[in-house]
Amino acid sequence: MQKKINREELTASYDWYRQMRETQPVFFDPNIQGWHIFRYDDVVRVITEHATFSSEQNRFVPAEYRDVNPISSSIVRLDPPRHHKLRQLVSQAFTPRMVANMESRIKEITSGLLDQVQAVGEMDVIRDLATPLPITVIAELLGVPAERREDFKRWSDAFVSGDAEATEEDMQEGIQAAGSMVDYFAQIFEERRAHPQDDLVSALLLAEVDGERLSNEELIGFCVLLLVAGNETTTNLIGNTILCLDENPGSVERLRANRDLVPKALEEALRYYSPVKLVPRWAVTETTIGDQRIEAGQLLFAWVPSANRDEAQFPNADQFTIEREPNRHLGFGRGIHFCLGAPLARLEAKIALNEMLDRLPGSWHVSDVPLSPIKSMSAFGVKQLPLTWEK
Ligand code: HEM
Repeated sequence: MQKKINREELTASYDWYRQMRETQPVFFDPNIQGWHIFRYDDVVRVITEHATFSSEQNRFVPAEYRDVNPISSSIVRLDPPRHHKLRQLVSQAFTPRMVANMESRIKEITSGLLDQVQAVGEMDVIRDLATPLPITVIAELLGVPAERREDFKRWSDAFVSGDAEATEEDMQEGIQAAGSMVDYFAQIFEERRAHPQDDLVSALLLAEVDGERLSNEELIGFCVLLLVAGNETTTNLIGNTILCLDENPGSVERLRANRDLVPKALEEALRYYSPVKLVPRWAVTETTIGDQRIEAGQLLFAWVPSANRDEAQFPNADQFTIEREPNRHLGFGRGIHFCLGAPLARLEAKIALNEMLDRLPGSWHVSDVPLSPIKSMSAFGVKQLPLTWEK
């Protein structure tokens, strides 16, 4: 039995996705002069067929309308062959082994954060665990000193704060954040070139494919992408998972009794409340999707959460089913741009959830207050998530 709580504001977008999937699955929006794509099969096509749907904003958007942050020139905004080269380069430094080596440290950080709330009997999952955990992990991986972590958080928040209602002030804040981050990383690169350390920045500086290394701009783009793409998304994966468990009474007890279910629950949360909302692409050539003709150069927004609730792909799509099998969700994307940080995000979320199950006994209760979604075009999650448990 699914619990009904005051979450209209949070789930309103899901009503829109359902309506659009059923009535206008490929929809031209005059406001963005582009297309919204809602069905699973169409979203898969748009995000994987890179010869038809490009990720390279700079080829299609006039300079004055482009995003002015370093991410716009990073790996996620590149097409082959350059994308392939860059992905090989960064994969040398950002390896599954490096992530696996972080396991005991991630446990330590999580445990330290839970130490501060366990005896209190209540916490804000976002403030007390889901935000500080990924920011600390990525800062340590990159080799950034602890005292700059607050700046990191501020900078990465400023990047994702933009949505349809963003004010001029928000935009200026974003631009300023981008500038501060670029300056900061330029300085770190200089230090690491002179004195390499055992960290990701030093490994990135040394990575080489066919005698080629990353340019300074590419290095900055990648580090900023890791900070922005890696923080907010992982925060929301942890928060959204707790929301899913709360909406489905009995699931915390099931997970506590059978920890093999934890990774499955996380995959289902990635499907049910996907942290990334939209993935942009630009049509390279004229093409059709369904019965709509897409012109060369037009923008497309592929809506991941909508695809992940498509009944044609997922039976009982609006039901959170921990043991869903198969679960070919698109939460981490698909194809050549498949999330490079997926192993790290999965590991952090698994450790966070397991530690919570170990340390916060009995059943859990999310306060029955209206939960506000974060303001963002591209990210889905809540601002606060007050949780209590039995003491
Ligand atoms: C790409 C989601 C965590 C680094 C992507 C894409 C998605 C995604 C949907 C594909 C974008 C596209 O096709 O244009 C997520 C989610 C996360 C997460 C839901 C957490 C739950 C992370 C973390 C890192 C990271 C922790 C690194 C620290 C990247 C990078 C790419 C990427 C570098 C670009 C890969 C490429 O273009 O080849 N992510 N991500 N992500 N993600 Fe993540």
